Amino acid sequence: MKRQADKGQRAGATAAADAALAEELRPGQSVELLKELHILTREGRLNQDSRRKLKQVYHLYQFIEKLLLELPEEGAAATVADHGAGKSYLGFILHDLFFKARGGGHIYGIETRAELVERSRALADRLGFARMHFLALSVAESATATELPAQIDMVTALHACDTATDDAIAFGLAKQARFMVLVPCCQAEVAASLRQNKALSLARTPLAELWRHPLHTREIGSQLTNVLRCLYLEACGYQVTVTELVGWEHSMKNELILARRTGHRKASAAQRLRALLAEFGLDALAGRRFPALPLAASATEAVHEA
Ligand SMILES: C[S@@+](CC[C@H](N)C(=O)[O-])C[C@H]1O[C@@H](n2cnc3c(N)ncnc32)[C@H](O)[C@@H]1O
Repeated sequence: MKRQADKGQRAGATAAADAALAEELRPGQSVELLKELHILTREGRLNQDSRRKLKQVYHLYQFIEKLLLELPEEGAAATVADHGAGKSYLGFILHDLFFKARGGGHIYGIETRAELVERSRALADRLGFARMHFLALSVAESATATELPAQIDMVTALHACDTATDDAIAFGLAKQARFMVLVPCCQAEVAASLRQNKALSLARTPLAELWRHPLHTREIGSQLTNVLRCLYLEACGYQVTVTELVGWEHSMKNELILARRTGHRKASAAQRLRALLAEFGLDALAGRRFPALPLAASATEAVHEA
């Protein structure tokens, strides 16, 4: 009698767990993939941690999906390059939720660590995700790699380390990407310059307090880097939105930069970018990080037109 009751209880618990899972998943979503990505437990179940991870994934996905739907054929044949792909969980989720049912589109995962590339290739094979390609290349190298098409619709870079985000922007510009979805990671280059130059003229003003303490130097370095990136994108013909990734509250790296190509090169953004570089003693970065910036004179002239 007791055994039967236990059995009934277990069956009830399994049914409840199945129902909870079904509620969280999208139609056709691969449980196998979610297990491989450790979003679901090995038994294919949800726990507190997996609910949080799924929330993060869906939050990011909803931004990307909206943009993909704006592309020709509602994104069915879109090309996406994911930079600093790591284990490629973003690429896999995109394939699973968006491209799988559409039967078209290609995702390129770009990652320097060959062992991660191999792992992603093996997982894609196992899942039958044939339109996912993984390249063991740096972001910079990928801009001229023959394995990639001349034009890419969307560039993503989720926590690509340090200046890899800048390389992803350069890649997006070279490939005339319609959209760029960037979540920058730690950034040391600007902070190092700030430390070195003590920001020249600003050092004698109260604004120097913004980076006097080493922690603040790092923080303002990051903030300034992202501000410069946004201005650069605007100067190069993109409309930019900056928002926050929910669920990443524990991380300070939760800034999401969404860029949409409009073709309107904003001259005032170019001018402000140059002015900021000059104020903070960062002119040396201009050629290296912002090579497509229009010349200073033409930028100034154009400001009056804007
Ligand atoms: C913090 S992980 C993020 C991985 C993944 N995008 C995610 O959010 O889960 C950063 C990844 O970028 C890779 N990476 C760093 N610099 C790179 C570069 N210049 N080119 C390509 N990959 C790079 C690292 O090897 C690492 O796997």
